[in-house]
Amino acid sequence: MTHPDPLRQNVALDALNTLRLPARAAWFAAIDSVDTLRAVLDDARIQGLPRLVLGGGSNLVLAGDFPGLVLQVAFHGRSRVQEDADAFYVRVGGGENWHDFVRWTLEMGWPGLENLSLIPGTAGAAPVQNIGAYGIEVCEHFYSLRAYDLETGKTVGFDKADCAFAYRDSFFKQQGAGRYLIAAVTFRLPKRWTPITGYADVARQLAAQGIAVPTPLQVSDAVIAIRRAKLPDPAEIGNAGSFFKNPVVDAAEYARLAALHPGLPHYPQADGREKLAAGWLIEQAGWKGRRLGPVGCFERQALVLVNHGGATGADVRATSNAVRADVRARFGVELEPEPVFVGGPLP
Ligand code: EPU
Repeated sequence: MTHPDPLRQNVALDALNTLRLPARAAWFAAIDSVDTLRAVLDDARIQGLPRLVLGGGSNLVLAGDFPGLVLQVAFHGRSRVQEDADAFYVRVGGGENWHDFVRWTLEMGWPGLENLSLIPGTAGAAPVQNIGAYGIEVCEHFYSLRAYDLETGKTVGFDKADCAFAYRDSFFKQQGAGRYLIAAVTFRLPKRWTPITGYADVARQLAAQGIAVPTPLQVSDAVIAIRRAKLPDPAEIGNAGSFFKNPVVDAAEYARLAALHPGLPHYPQADGREKLAAGWLIEQAGWKGRRLGPVGCFERQALVLVNHGGATGADVRATSNAVRADVRARFGVELEPEPVFVGGPLP
């Protein structure tokens, strides 16, 4: 039996990135098995070309056409692989939709990921930038993952320490950037569960619904309601979630800023530093709801850049740079973009 050619040429990526930026891949393949991956990587037509691993496209700024091979992660499946006295171990294919996976775990009675409901993207991309929201980060329930090393062609297992998780960061955004295709992730979901409702928005939402002792699904529902109220839906308006990381500054820098700007929201870190709310800094710099060309800051959450229609990667870069310059001028604070910029040259 002959298999259809998995390699496609000159493929539009517009619908495969949540900022809805126009870009084309010289070569493209959806990877749903190791055999497909091996066949694609051995193909004479793509030797020596750059490669890009694509998940849900929700943490990506496509700066132009991609001159190489785009590998779309299409590994599927989800199952409970193990259980011990303290936890359930649940494995999910890297190409599965993150939110659908979270809801499935909750419906199966395996809590833990509820605060991370409705985050766009795939399960395989979740550990790459260590997604986080409403008081938890995915690394807290991460157990292990299996990835394909695109350089050696071998399968590699990673445990939690190997991943070097940090705030919106991991090994896969640092030394391992671009090298691995994450095929499956295993989470450890503890049997003894307590809701994480310390985040003001979550507490307020549950109180408004008259819920004193929430179930995991009720926490998920509350998070969904908050996100729907505050954040733009990528299905309706192009965006990549928070566009900047919340900057972390040392104690002296925080003291300087707090004296100048009463009301500056801040979150003490374990190491004595302070995390600042980038959304607040951006709003104070006058950018909430403002746009430069087709790209602007969302009117209900200044930290999110939105594509009002027809934007290119260069437009995103221009607005990002303008916001950063204004925040730098007003506060002396440097903002770092959260998404990864890839693709052709920028003007
Ligand atoms: N704020 C403003 N103006 C704004 C936005 C925020 O003044 O336009 C203030 C808020 O009033 C609040 C503070 O800034 O005092 C923090 O705002 P919020 O609670 O909305 O959270 P955030 O720090 O802006 C972070 C994550 C989000 C995550 C939320 C909830 C980052 C970069 N962003 O946003 O993650 O959903 O907390 O936990 O850490 C994402 O990474 O894509 C993302 C959406």
